[in-house]
Amino acid sequence: MLICIILVTLAYTASSIAVNYNTNHILEYVKRNNYPIEVHNLNTSDGYELNIHRIPHGLDNNSSSGNRSVILLVHGLQESAEHWMINGNKSLAFLLANLGYDVWMANARGTYHSRGHTRYDTSNPEYWDFSWHEIGLYDHPATIDYILSKTGVSKLSYIGHSQGVTSFLALTSIYPEYNDKIKIMIGLAPAAYMAHVKNPVFMAMSRVWELNLMPDIWRSLPAGASAKQWIHYLQLVRSGYFRQYEYQGIENVLRYGRLDPPTYDLDKVTAKIALYYSQNDWLAQPQDVRRLRDELPNVVVDHLVIYEGFNHWDFLFAKDVVELLYNNVIEALSKYNE
Ligand SMILES: *[C@@H]1O[C@H](CO)[C@@H](O)[C@H](O)[C@H]1NC(C)=O
Ligand SMILES: *[C@@H]1O[C@H](CO)[C@@H](O)[C@H](O)[C@H]1NC(C)=O
Ligand SMILES: *[C@@H]1O[C@H](CO)[C@@H](O)[C@H](O)[C@H]1NC(C)=O
Ligand SMILES: *[C@@H]1O[C@H](CO)[C@@H](O)[C@H](O)[C@H]1NC(C)=O
Ligand SMILES: *[C@@H]1O[C@H](CO)[C@@H](O)[C@H](O)[C@H]1NC(C)=O
Repeated sequence: MLICIILVTLAYTASSIAVNYNTNHILEYVKRNNYPIEVHNLNTSDGYELNIHRIPHGLDNNSSSGNRSVILLVHGLQESAEHWMINGNKSLAFLLANLGYDVWMANARGTYHSRGHTRYDTSNPEYWDFSWHEIGLYDHPATIDYILSKTGVSKLSYIGHSQGVTSFLALTSIYPEYNDKIKIMIGLAPAAYMAHVKNPVFMAMSRVWELNLMPDIWRSLPAGASAKQWIHYLQLVRSGYFRQYEYQGIENVLRYGRLDPPTYDLDKVTAKIALYYSQNDWLAQPQDVRRLRDELPNVVVDHLVIYEGFNHWDFLFAKDVVELLYNNVIEALSKYNE
């Protein structure tokens, strides 16, 4: 019974959030809104072929005015680049482009835009053997280095929604040299500690799921993420730690040389960090975000959205998202633009 509810909820979540399957729709939509859009391809060191989007300038065509600030927007779980663009002129990507920023948007492995692999087809389970840990450790370095080399700048600003923050923390705690490539990391609904997650289905799942069962459940659903991304989050809900993926029994010992997975060392995340969160977010609860804040060495903004009803999707889609959130984000971006 519980499994049934979980399945239906997952299917609902996956299908309602996966905006479209035709990756050209978004290009047409952006062009209809008179913005320029580019698609760039790159490969990760573990063979995933990614397509990332760029809005090189805003409506006033300032593409040639050089020396502009570069921003990378990184989507959350079951999302992709279009989620930064489909809220009309309130979309963060459009607002930033109009302010003169060179806006790039990641598409993680497994999203509809980034389904290629040098060896595996998406029908091969090997393709789907990744969590947001691998997105952080392989997709992000490839994406960041590609953008820096294309634009000729040495640093970019990073804005992540939810999983886009989790994967950033995985990257910079394990490869701290990437801190030096970041002007500021702006975390919207930052997901890391998850002990206080409120969503009843997520909580129920974390209690009853079987590692062996989840991938089968998952196979019956429209994808856009791997089962392992969800399981890894469920492990955080259950354990209260922010740590690497927990394998079964002996496999932890084989991979990590210890029984429990290693925690992410947040002391190594030395980049400037701004955290934006809300009371009504079922995933990133204030208590958990404040614990993250207290453990990160370089938090420069700690901002609880004043409207209590603001939820996880409002960070992208709220009617008043500009007044409640983006104006603050834009202020932080220009303040820490070094
Ligand atoms: C990525 O790898 C594929 C397969 O090896 C290759 O065909 C493609 O050209 C590579 N793409 C880039 C951008 O290097
Ligand atoms: C925008 O600028 C580019 C490069 O300077 C130019 O090629 C293009 O025609 C311009 N587009 C418009 C609509 O002015
Ligand atoms: C580029 O922008 C930076 C920061 O605003 C400024 O210090 C620098 O002089 C600019 N360089 C050029 C070539 O305009
Ligand atoms: C969006 O467009 C409407 C109508 O043109 C305008 O009233 C509104 O101020 C715009 N909003 C933003 C955030 O630019
Ligand atoms: C675009 O270029 C014009 C002319 O150089 C300048 O006046 C304007 O401020 C620029 N706009 C942005 C958003 O950089």
